[in-house]
Amino acid sequence: MISGKGASKGTTPVGAQTEEQAAKWVRGMFAEVAPRYDFLNHLLSANIDKHWRNRTVARLKPHLSKPNPKVLDICCGTGDLTILLEKATGTPVLGSDFCHPMLTEAAGKITRGQLRSPLFEADGLKLPIKDASLDVITVAFGFRNFANYQSGIEELRRVLKPGGVAAVLEFTQPPNPAFRAVYNFYSRHLLSVIGGLISGSSDAYSYLPESVKKFPEAPLLAQQMRESGFQQVEFEYMTFGIVALHLATR
Ligand SMILES: C[S@@+](CC[C@H](N)C(=O)[O-])C[C@H]1O[C@@H](n2cnc3c(N)ncnc32)[C@H](O)[C@@H]1O
Repeated sequence: MISGKGASKGTTPVGAQTEEQAAKWVRGMFAEVAPRYDFLNHLLSANIDKHWRNRTVARLKPHLSKPNPKVLDICCGTGDLTILLEKATGTPVLGSDFCHPMLTEAAGKITRGQLRSPLFEADGLKLPIKDASLDVITVAFGFRNFANYQSGIEELRRVLKPGGVAAVLEFTQPPNPAFRAVYNFYSRHLLSVIGGLISGSSDAYSYLPESVKKFPEAPLLAQQMRESGFQQVEFEYMTFGIVALHLATR
């Protein structure tokens, strides 16, 4: 069991008392911002989010280049990582999310790109996937929104084949204290105001810095994954540590 700085059971949006309420709030918030999600994502990250997903796919290359890998991108949202994974493998991958309007955006992009990855609606904590059936599972900027991080880690591990790999790309707290202070100022004051104005949902963009603050810092998440039975758990920081990519093998 993890305790200490950065430890939290799961996301706790303001007003949510239970895990069900937290999940419902998160789903509703993404439904509200879905049509403007991509635009805001690229604007507020100055397009660096594209580099973060490309790097994730590059790190997974040895696993993606196996013949017919079984790959699932959970919390796929509008499908940017799903699309990169299909292009990298040359075969359809699976994408899932529990927010229908985000999946609708993803489906449109997949069709327009003449790609074939199938999408399905599912909670990342209760995937309709058999035990030990995937080679790779990815989650980009979704894990932090889980109402229970430990359940999320266990679900990732459950669906992977032995030797399969989980990739968790997520915002984190930059390790350098000076940069952390600057970044926290940006995310609490500028990002939440600009995001709120453009998306029309001030809740969504004030939730973002709060949810990052409550999410286990990268070394702690790695420890939690190891304690849950994952092996070869490693992480790398990107962009001065505002994002971390964890890779872990079942
Ligand atoms: C910040 S978006 C990230 C979308 C996409 N992966 C990307 O890289 O842009 C987070 C997504 O996670 C989804 N999500 C959050 N909690 C979830 C859960 N428990 N089960 C399934 N999807 C979830 C949300 O609906 C949303 O689409």
